[in-house]
Amino acid sequence: MVQQQAYFGLGVLQKIKEVLDKENPSRIFLVCGKSSYLASSAQKELTPLLERYAVIPFNDFSPNPKIEDIKKGIFCHNQEPADITLAIGGGSTIDMAKAITLLAEQTGEPETYICKKDQSIIPKSRKIIAVPTTAGAGSEATHFAVVYVNKTKYSLAHPSLLPDYALVDPQLTFSLSPYATASTGMDALAQAIESYWCINTTEESKNYARESITLVLKYLASAVHMPTPDARIAMAKAAHLAGKAINISKTTLCHAISYSLTSYFGIPHGHAVALSLGETFTYNAALSESECADSRGIDYVRSTLEELCDLFQMHDPKEVKESLAVLMRTIGLEERLHYLGITRGDLPLIMSKVDLERGQNNPRKVSSDSLLELLKNIF
Ligand SMILES: [Fe+2]
Repeated sequence: MVQQQAYFGLGVLQKIKEVLDKENPSRIFLVCGKSSYLASSAQKELTPLLERYAVIPFNDFSPNPKIEDIKKGIFCHNQEPADITLAIGGGSTIDMAKAITLLAEQTGEPETYICKKDQSIIPKSRKIIAVPTTAGAGSEATHFAVVYVNKTKYSLAHPSLLPDYALVDPQLTFSLSPYATASTGMDALAQAIESYWCINTTEESKNYARESITLVLKYLASAVHMPTPDARIAMAKAAHLAGKAINISKTTLCHAISYSLTSYFGIPHGHAVALSLGETFTYNAALSESECADSRGIDYVRSTLEELCDLFQMHDPKEVKESLAVLMRTIGLEERLHYLGITRGDLPLIMSKVDLERGQNNPRKVSSDSLLELLKNIF
C-alpha cells in the first residue's frame, strides 16, 4: 500500500505549493469536476499556484465513472503524459483520476483489469494528489475506484490506487447545496456504519468509523440547514475517516444494493446508499447462527450492533432505523423507492444487479428471498 501523506484543515489547499515544490513535476494531469472546480473556489485558489506548470486539464466525464470516460481520460493523458495527477472534485472525480492514472500505464485494455480482474496489473509510477470538494465519499483515502461498465458496477482495487497525497480542505465544501450536503453526508454515514459491521473490520477501522459516525450524527443536519464552518469541518473530517475505515474493511449490503439505483434510476450515490441503511440494520440484527457470515461468530456481530446502537444513543436496532428515517426526513432525502420513480416491476432488475462481492461482506448472509423482502420494506 502507498504511504499516504494526508493534510486536513481550513486552508490546507495551499499546501499544494509545498507538495508540487517537492515533487517538481514537468506536467500536471488535472482531473476536476466541470462545475465543482469553479463553485468550490478551488479554481480561484489554484490558478496562481499552478501558473508555472504545464497543466493538462480533463473534465470531459459524467457523474459516476463510466469506462468510456476512463478511456477518454487515458487517451487525453497519453497525448501528453504528465508525471503527476491532481484530482479535485467529488468521489466520482477522484475515482476517475485514480483509475485513469493506474490504467494508463497498463499494456492491456481497461476492461481486462476492471471486468476480468486481471491480476497482472503493475503499480502506477505517477503520484496522485487528491483534493475532495464534497464531504462524503472519502475516495481520497481508499485504494479502490468504482467504474460502471454498461450500467454494471465494478470495483478496481489496487494498493497503488491510494492517492499519495490527500488534501482535505473543508473550505471547498462551503458552497455545496443542501441536497449535495445531505446525499454525500449520508454516504459518509453509510460507509462508516457498513464498515463497522463488515466482516473484514479491524480495531483500527472501527476506531475511524466510530469517530465518523459520532461526527455525522452531531453535525449533518446543521451542515444541511445551517452550514456553519464548524459543521462543514466536522463533516469533512467524518467523510475522510469513513474513507479510511472502508479502505480497510470495504462496504457491505447497502452499497451492494445502491449501484443499480444510481446507474438505472439516476439516484445520486449517497442518497441511494442511505435508502437501505435502516432496513439493513434491523435485517442484520435479526441474524441466526447459520446466517452469520463473520468468522468471529454471532456474539461478536451482536456486540458490534449493540455498540452501534450506543453510538446512536438508542436502545435497539428498531430505534436506530427510526432515527435514520427521521434524519433523512430532516435533511430532505426521500426515503422510499416508489417516490423516486421505481416501480415494483423494477425490483427484479435491482436484485439482479446487486454487487455480490460487497453483499458477501455483510455480517448476515443474504438470500434472494431476504433481499426481495428487504427491498419491499423500503419500497
Ligand atoms: Fe459510498
